[in-house]
Amino acid sequence: MILSHIVAAAQNGVIGKDNQLPWHIPEDLKFFREKTKGKAIIMGRKTFESVGHPLPDRLNVVITRNPEFKKHESTDSRTPVHVVSSLKEAIEYCSEQVHRYGEEVFIIGGGEIFRESMDIVDLIYLTRIHSDFPGDITYPDVDPLKFIEIERRDRSEPTPFSFLTYSRRDP
Ligand SMILES: NC(=O)c1ccc[n+]([C@@H]2O[C@H](COP(=O)([O-])OP(=O)(O)OC[C@H]3O[C@@H](n4cnc5c(N)ncnc54)[C@H](OP(=O)(O)O)[C@@H]3O)[C@@H](O)[C@H]2O)c1
Repeated sequence: MILSHIVAAAQNGVIGKDNQLPWHIPEDLKFFREKTKGKAIIMGRKTFESVGHPLPDRLNVVITRNPEFKKHESTDSRTPVHVVSSLKEAIEYCSEQVHRYGEEVFIIGGGEIFRESMDIVDLIYLTRIHSDFPGDITYPDVDPLKFIEIERRDRSEPTPFSFLTYSRRDP
């Protein structure tokens, strides 16, 4: 199994404001859709609620300490939702589903879940917006001693940003 972050962050690290994305970049949304389609995605309860619905054609795995959140579980074939009580449980569940959803599992946020998994991800797809945004949730700095940039595609519309891919360095 390959564990990946997929995240969009401003120059100052901001990824969210008032439980929403602070920007609208259609090409990044398309990148996210295409990358995660048909795959398992892991997210924190706040990210699940900020999206407002399960993402279709993906296995939605939601982490919460609230056992009542199980009521959001669904076996709908297009929008399956599985609720777990820890990151470890999320990863274990996804590792049992690779035959169906593929080897690459995506952690899609938010700030808390990214931080908790920074030391265990293999790959990071980081859309870096080259300007600062006000916000209350941030993505940690990518440590150059631990990760190496393996791909970069620069874009200018609607604002300068880059699609960056980092891979964990060999220990
Ligand atoms: N720019 C991006 O790429 C991007 C991507 C995703 C999200 N976001 C933004 O990020 C923000 C949300 O991030 P966030 O940090 O506030 O919340 P989050 O990481 O989405 O969710 C936090 C919640 O996850 C649960 N949780 C976290 N660690 C846990 C653990 N170890 N065990 C059990 N449950 C655990 C808790 O849920 P309970 O409180 O229910 O127990 C916690 O309140 C929003 O603004 C969103 O728009 C941005």
